[in-house]
Amino acid sequence: MRLTNEEQRVGIYVDNQPIRPEGVTPDTPLNALNLNWTERDLPERLRTRHVHRLHPYLGKFIPQLAEVFLRKFFRVGQTVLDPFVGSGTTLVQANELGIHSIGYDISAFNVLLCHAKTARYDLTKLKHEVYDALERTRIATQHGEQLSLLEEPPALQNYSVVDSDYLREWYAPCALQELLAYREVVETGDYEYKNLLRVILSRSARSARLTPHYELDFPKAPQREPYYCYKHRRVCEPTTEAFKFLERYSIDTLRRIREFARVRTDARVEVYHADSRTAALPPVDGVLTSPPYVGLIDYHAQHAYAYHLLQLQDLSNLEIGAARNGASERAKQEYVDDIVRVFRNALSVMPSGGWLIVVANDKHRLYPQIATTLGVEPHAEIVRHVNRRTGRRSTEFFETVFVWRKP
Ligand SMILES: C[S@@+](CC[C@H](N)C(=O)[O-])C[C@H]1O[C@@H](n2cnc3c(N)ncnc32)[C@H](O)[C@@H]1O
Repeated sequence: MRLTNEEQRVGIYVDNQPIRPEGVTPDTPLNALNLNWTERDLPERLRTRHVHRLHPYLGKFIPQLAEVFLRKFFRVGQTVLDPFVGSGTTLVQANELGIHSIGYDISAFNVLLCHAKTARYDLTKLKHEVYDALERTRIATQHGEQLSLLEEPPALQNYSVVDSDYLREWYAPCALQELLAYREVVETGDYEYKNLLRVILSRSARSARLTPHYELDFPKAPQREPYYCYKHRRVCEPTTEAFKFLERYSIDTLRRIREFARVRTDARVEVYHADSRTAALPPVDGVLTSPPYVGLIDYHAQHAYAYHLLQLQDLSNLEIGAARNGASERAKQEYVDDIVRVFRNALSVMPSGGWLIVVANDKHRLYPQIATTLGVEPHAEIVRHVNRRTGRRSTEFFETVFVWRKP
């Protein structure tokens, strides 16, 4: 087999089959960790199983990667920290394996999403709440008949006063009325599981934007006319309504929560909205994380619709490595300093011998320098060849798993 330059440089790669995550144990040798799964080894259905696809999120690692390193380096009953928790992949996988987990993120939406994914639900009550919110919205927006399950139909509202230029710009009037009606129902209703309803609202709002289908990740400008769609290879119309998405994602959300409930354990999950450079962290056994990368993604901006609709606190000025700051030499140095601060903070609450596992798309080779500055023992670098085919992009890239140990 021909190794790529990247694989040769790192040296840890063996010519064997990609590893089966569920078969990994603390005794699995590091050089058996072939992480180069193909689409056939790990079809999308498995990568996005249960709550992992509760809401789109750009820049997450796949659950199987988290699973491999949790199985290899952590034990049932230990606590793993993810200081860049994002959409909560580490938390969900740790919980499945009976490992306690604590996550931090600077993005309020990501924290909300993590809460919604990892909460424990009374499934009967949840189903009632999800359908109740949907039916009240249906009535408020005059979508069909009222269901008998509602005792008090809500008064019809006219949401003509919209407090956000973003919302006025990115939604057709009817779609916006439906989203605002749902928001009103959720925020004024007596629901226990509001966070999950907010996630349904956000996911629907993402789909209902006036965005070409091939630009859902990086929308450039509102699309008000029919357009040639590169994704579907035909002329598509911009969407004018949101209720169909609220309906679709309500059903899908219930299914995903039910599926996760079957494999959920009693392991503790905690999530905090804070800057990991300065947060007061509790004691943990080790870290598994994928940091933001320098100049790559604006994490708040990718969910702008959620910030506007849910009126979430915006701390984007504290994002490390934000895309808008670019990848100049200065930006890289600031990035290195920031990542060092986060990991120093994490190392201070870990025992000696604890593992710090970092997944990064390190094309500027900044992480070896970060390890030296931190004084950790570099144990291994495992390169993963990632194939991506989404939207109009068809690119390949590598991510590296750095395995470090606290001396
Ligand atoms: C690559 S993503 C993590 C993705 C995660 N592994 C997943 O599977 O969803 C990096 C995350 O770091 C967060 N972040 C950036 N700066 C931060 C800071 N100063 N403190 C805490 N989190 C921060 C971003 O909001 C983003 O969610």
